[in-house]
Amino acid sequence: MDSPIVTQLFRQLFRHSKCPSRRNLAALTTCLQHGRRMQLYHQQQRRGMATRDFQRGAKNNSPVKGAEWQQRTEVLTLDMAEEYKRYPMVTANELRGRRERPRRVKMLMRDFIEDSLYNPHYGYFSKQVVIFSPGEPFNFNALPDEPAFHNLLGRRYTEFEDELDAQEHDDTRQLWHTPTELFRPYYGEAVARYLMSNYIMSTYPYHDLIIYEMGAGRGTLMLNILDYIRDVEPSVYDRTKYKIIEISPSLAALQGAQLLKGAAAGRGHADKVEIINKSVFDWTERVSSPCFFLAMEVFDNFAHDVVRYDLATEEALQGTVLIDSEGDFHEFYERALDPVAARYLRVRHAATGGRYPVPYSPSRALRWLKGLRPLAPNLSDPEYLPTRLMQFFDILERYFPAHRLLTSDFHTLPDAIKGLNSPVVQTRYQRRMVPVTTPLVHQGYFDILFPTDFRIMEAVYGAMTGKLTRVMSHESFMHSWAYVEDTETRSGENPLLNWYKNASVMVTV
Ligand SMILES: C[S@@+](CC[C@H](N)C(=O)[O-])C[C@H]1O[C@@H](n2cnc3c(N)ncnc32)[C@H](O)[C@@H]1O
Repeated sequence: MDSPIVTQLFRQLFRHSKCPSRRNLAALTTCLQHGRRMQLYHQQQRRGMATRDFQRGAKNNSPVKGAEWQQRTEVLTLDMAEEYKRYPMVTANELRGRRERPRRVKMLMRDFIEDSLYNPHYGYFSKQVVIFSPGEPFNFNALPDEPAFHNLLGRRYTEFEDELDAQEHDDTRQLWHTPTELFRPYYGEAVARYLMSNYIMSTYPYHDLIIYEMGAGRGTLMLNILDYIRDVEPSVYDRTKYKIIEISPSLAALQGAQLLKGAAAGRGHADKVEIINKSVFDWTERVSSPCFFLAMEVFDNFAHDVVRYDLATEEALQGTVLIDSEGDFHEFYERALDPVAARYLRVRHAATGGRYPVPYSPSRALRWLKGLRPLAPNLSDPEYLPTRLMQFFDILERYFPAHRLLTSDFHTLPDAIKGLNSPVVQTRYQRRMVPVTTPLVHQGYFDILFPTDFRIMEAVYGAMTGKLTRVMSHESFMHSWAYVEDTETRSGENPLLNWYKNASVMVTV
């Protein structure tokens, strides 16, 4: 699929979403049809890899022809150097109060991504996101095999969305699924076993069991963990406190409603749970007690900075986005790094002893030879730096000094855009995923989802917090803590172990 064209079409479509022109819709439909064919092909190639989306697409990456410090994009090559000098630099924080997407400004890529995802008025999380719930938990033991599970899940997905459409039709609804939801309650029970065992072995009976969960989605993990602890170990349940830190007001409300539902059935946990509706980055309270800190599929949306390297000197240049008077985007690279990106590069270097991947050939001779080709770029492919993740570790170190982290996320993502540690950028239109080739897309309509390099993350987390960790695959964590017979199909296939092959888990030890 020619994603730059799709990107343009979406930009047009969403910019005028109240009155989409027929021409746009017709052109979009053609692109989507081609996308669907590619999608089928890629789905066959991706067994075992998962993202939040049930159906996802594919794209071609056409080469970026690098030039000067204003990188050319596939679509636009306007010289915007004058505007770049004149336009003010803004941050995502400064844009929080704005209801309109900004124009005639420039911002670091990290701020652009954060604004696109998290702006309270037009950001992706503020309005677009629905997390799928399968209704009744799946009875895996009664299913013949994994394809049968896949089919059943597909049907439940359709029913779920049909119900939503009956209330209010929405072509641009963004619908995700997470392992917490698909494998409910077994996934949560596995996490509960991990928490209880580690609590009993470490701080019980001197401290309460305090659990913080950042980004709790529908609140399902919280319910499954608390149900399990109450049923299995009431003496631990009596001493349990559960606190959710949730950025999305609508998801925080859904989590509160989950608690009320339980209360109506006489199985509520309301007296155990506190829902704190704020971003973890706004946290200011020091928690000195030992606690567990859960972060399941939250890091992937943390904003990243982008750098490209000067192919002659290996010096990093940082990416800035210029938004022009029409709302179009232009990317620039500057030699001066902002303090956050510069610090990340220093911390990573120190933490890993200089062993980390880079988006250019280590051989100077080879780079020089490649540079002789006509129109050869003078900058490397982009590399995305997890600068917000580093700032999250600052929060942990400063406000939760006695925490133990349990986090799960994707270590690789199919269909990522070009670059090192690059994200998948996608939107859902008429129930189909449409991936594009750049994060510079109409703010708020696209999920921007990064993989996590667990080796680097572990080193950086260790260097910043002084804590020791262990990284394992999702499958290996589940082997250790789940009752895997609960999720086995009659053929012996086990979706809890076989799906999410591209997810890893890191725990503080
Ligand atoms: C992909 S969902 C995962 C939900 C849940 N953990 C699960 O596995 O089902 C990401 C969650 O993180 C929340 N979130 C994202 N960024 C956040 C932030 N900076 N602070 C707190 N919550 C955040 C989102 O609103 C959402 O609830």
